[in-house]
Amino acid sequence: MAGAMQSVHAHPPELARSAHELPCATTFSGAGAPPEIPVIDMSSPHAGRAMAGAAREWGIFQVVNHGVPVEAVSELQRVGREFFALPQAEKQRYAMDPSSGKTEGYGSTLQRDGPDGKKTWADFLFHNIAPPSAVNHAVWPESPEGYRAANEAYCAHMRRLTRTLFERLSAGLGLEEGAMAEAFGGDEVIFLQKINFYPPCPQPDLALGVAPHTDLSTLTVLVPNEVPGLQILSNGRYKAVLHRTTVSKEKTRMSWPVFLEPPTEHIVGPHPRLVTDEYPAKYKAKKFKEYKYCKINKLPQ
Ligand code: SIN
Ligand code: FE2
Repeated sequence: MAGAMQSVHAHPPELARSAHELPCATTFSGAGAPPEIPVIDMSSPHAGRAMAGAAREWGIFQVVNHGVPVEAVSELQRVGREFFALPQAEKQRYAMDPSSGKTEGYGSTLQRDGPDGKKTWADFLFHNIAPPSAVNHAVWPESPEGYRAANEAYCAHMRRLTRTLFERLSAGLGLEEGAMAEAFGGDEVIFLQKINFYPPCPQPDLALGVAPHTDLSTLTVLVPNEVPGLQILSNGRYKAVLHRTTVSKEKTRMSWPVFLEPPTEHIVGPHPRLVTDEYPAKYKAKKFKEYKYCKINKLPQ
C-alpha cells in the first residue's frame, strides 16, 4: 500500500470506525492487565493437554520449541518485506481480481469496502502454497530473489508442524491422532500463505488494520514481525477466536498467516465420534464451499 497510500493525502472518512469498534474500545472487563495468551512448549510431554486446554478456553495459543528454524522464518519475512518495498506498478502486476475469478494475488483493503462499507488499513499478498495440485506459480512474485525458495521451505515446515498440531488437538478431543487432519481433507487440505502489510497510518486511533472477524480456515498459523497489533476479543472452545488488528503511526506492521482450508467440495461438519445424545450436532454437515458462502454472507451455519 505504500504506493497506493501516496495518493491518499487525507485520512479517508471510510477508515474511521464507529465508536464501539475504535481501537481503544475493549471487551476486557477484568481488573489489571488482560491475561496473556497461553504459550505451548511443543517439546514438553504435557504439550498435548496444554494445547487442548488453550484451544478450548482461548481458541488461540503461541507455540515455542516448534522445530521451525529461525532461518526459515527470517527468510520468509525478508522476501515478504522486499516484495512490499517494490514499486507499486510492480506489485500491481500480481493484483488479484476476485470478480474475474482471480482469487490469489496482491490487493489492498483501502481500495475495497468491507461488508459494513468501512475500509481498513492493510495491503496483502495471498496465494496457495500446497498441495502442489493447488499451486499456481504464475501468481507468485518473481522478485525479490529467493521468494519461491523461501515460501517452499517454509511450507514444508508448516506441513510438518500442522500435522503435529492436528494430532495433539485430535487427542485432546479423545479422537485418534489422524482424525482431525483426515476430517479436513487429509493430503488434499489447502495451505494458503498470506502476507499482511500495515504501513504507518496517520490516524491509528480511528482505523483498524483488520476488522473484527473469526478465520474461516480450520487452523491458522501466524508469524508476526516485531510490531504488535493482533488483538483477540473473546474466548473460544476449539473454535475460531474473534480478533482484529490495529495499526501504528510510525511503524510498519507485517504478519504471515498460513491458513489451512479443506478442498471446496469436501464435506465438513461435526465429527461423528463427537456427536452423542448428550452433545447433539451443533452444525449441519456441508461442503466446505457452502460453509464458506454461509460464513461470508453471515447465514446460519
Ligand atoms: C488477520 O487476522 O487476517 C490478520 C492477523 C494479523 O495481522 O496478525
Ligand atoms: Fe484472521
